[in-house]
Amino acid sequence: MDKEKSEKTPKKTMATGDRAILPEGAKTIPIYIMGKKYEVPETLTILKAMEYAGFKFIRGCGCRGGICGACGTVYRKPGDYKLQVGLACQTVVEPDMYLTQIPFFPANRAPYRLEELEGKPEEIFKLYPEVFRCVACNACTKACPMDVKVLDYVSAIKQGNIAKAAQLSFDCIQCGLCASRCMGELPQYHFAQLARRIYGKRIAPKSKHLEKRVEEIESGKYDEILKKLTQMDQKELEKLYMEREREPDTSVPGEWVPKETKYL
Ligand code: SF4
Ligand code: SF4
Ligand code: FES
Repeated sequence: MDKEKSEKTPKKTMATGDRAILPEGAKTIPIYIMGKKYEVPETLTILKAMEYAGFKFIRGCGCRGGICGACGTVYRKPGDYKLQVGLACQTVVEPDMYLTQIPFFPANRAPYRLEELEGKPEEIFKLYPEVFRCVACNACTKACPMDVKVLDYVSAIKQGNIAKAAQLSFDCIQCGLCASRCMGELPQYHFAQLARRIYGKRIAPKSKHLEKRVEEIESGKYDEILKKLTQMDQKELEKLYMEREREPDTSVPGEWVPKETKYL
């Protein structure tokens, strides 16, 4: 890039961490938060733009990393009748966005005790009879910021295929945006969570090595080393960590064994 061009092009620095780090001369754009206009830097996510505009997230503000589902946002862009949805911590602002947040959606959650369930589809039907109100409109799938095939997992539950529903809904972060668009008023993500819990408890094969490790922990095999580690100061711990045996990047998965096998 020639000197003249690079001088004209403002250097873009993305916001990092919990604060908006703005480049010198950062361009601002107008956005509307709950109907009120604010000028915010164009590089920010909706979450950071809201903070820049003066909003403070002091409760239920979430992970800021696209994992917890606490920052569901609904917005519309000028000239477009369509309501869009996204996660405030992952979606970058656009000029004239008209937005509000839905950090919680009050969908029906049926009470149950997992240990009392045998893992039959009929148990889900009894807890959530509304699953059969689904009209397969697919609005839920279009709304999902995690690209989860919501209609497909709802259909799997209706077909009694709990394992398929659990697998299809694996990336769900419980944001509730699917439920907010559902004409059948279904709490899709609560069905899906139940399907995953049943799958984990009753359907998935047991992990033998995990069971063995839990038994070892309960038998006290690691008590001594844990006590020793918790009594070390930070420097000793750092040294131990840096000098630990590490699996080489090139090793064949599952074949590498450390020289010290005492704690395996
Ligand atoms: S939005 Fe509701 S009714 Fe439409 S497909 Fe999804 S679950 Fe079914
Ligand atoms: S399935 Fe529903 S609750 Fe889960 S991430 Fe997608 S929109 Fe959010
Ligand atoms: S704050 Fe957790 S997903 Fe956005």
